[in-house]
Amino acid sequence: MQTQKKIKGLRLILKTARSQGKSIALVPTMGNLHEGHLQLVRQARERYDFIVCSIFVNPMQFSENEDLAAYPRTLEADCESLRSESCDCLFLPCVKEVYGEGLEQQTSVHVPGLTENFCGNSRPGHFEGVATVVTKLFNIAQPDAAFFGLKDYQQFLVIQKLTHDLALDIAIHGIETHREESGLAMSSRNNYLSPQHKEQAASLYRCLQSCAEKIQQGNTDFQQLEEDAKKELKQASLKLDYFQICDAQSLLASTTDTQSIAILGAVFIGKSRLIDNIRLQRS
Ligand code: PAF
Repeated sequence: MQTQKKIKGLRLILKTARSQGKSIALVPTMGNLHEGHLQLVRQARERYDFIVCSIFVNPMQFSENEDLAAYPRTLEADCESLRSESCDCLFLPCVKEVYGEGLEQQTSVHVPGLTENFCGNSRPGHFEGVATVVTKLFNIAQPDAAFFGLKDYQQFLVIQKLTHDLALDIAIHGIETHREESGLAMSSRNNYLSPQHKEQAASLYRCLQSCAEKIQQGNTDFQQLEEDAKKELKQASLKLDYFQICDAQSLLASTTDTQSIAILGAVFIGKSRLIDNIRLQRS
């Protein structure tokens, strides 16, 4: 696996790969790679010829009171994992390489609509940071495809929309969430949880599952279903951020006509804020 810290160097590597007729897939990450990330690399590996993974803890998507400094950094282990997945190239830029003029001077990408609720509400500026860095990574690597986890479902939709709106010729792949045995969605932020918190946190997925089952059984009283789930989360001592049954494309509140549904949940536990979701098709 080649490691490249500079934009210019990465472009040269990718130019060579392209000249050999190879298709290129990008897997953008912030490092501290877990099984969920490795699934993205594996899926990319299966479908494309040359795989670039980026590790960049993007300061633009953290607000001042968030965990940028404490965000887990495990570069050695990450490199080993990527090597064992036969990743071809690791792009490892520093902040100056990505934001040479400083964050204040950085042109930003705003994705309207989709970013206004849920994580956009709880983390002001977060999606502008994500959209900007992802657009920048897309322009640097100019991949044929990019892979993202569906645990961050709102983020996935935001990236799909920016790719479409900016007419970028990149196939966006969403890969199913990888879970621990308890059902807890894998996340770098699970590192902040004690074993007891991890057990409590698994209730979020159980609530999502039980809500999805009730909808599949024909229950369309979405408001009541949300209230029931919120009560259950409270009983599990999870502090609610949001729990909502939405249209899976627009993320607007579901109505009885909505066929394709996403149930989104976010809770606070210990020092962490955890998000998860389930998507389902009403028959
Ligand atoms: O999901 C993440 O890890 C990040 O938000 C991403 C997409 C790598 C952008 O920094």
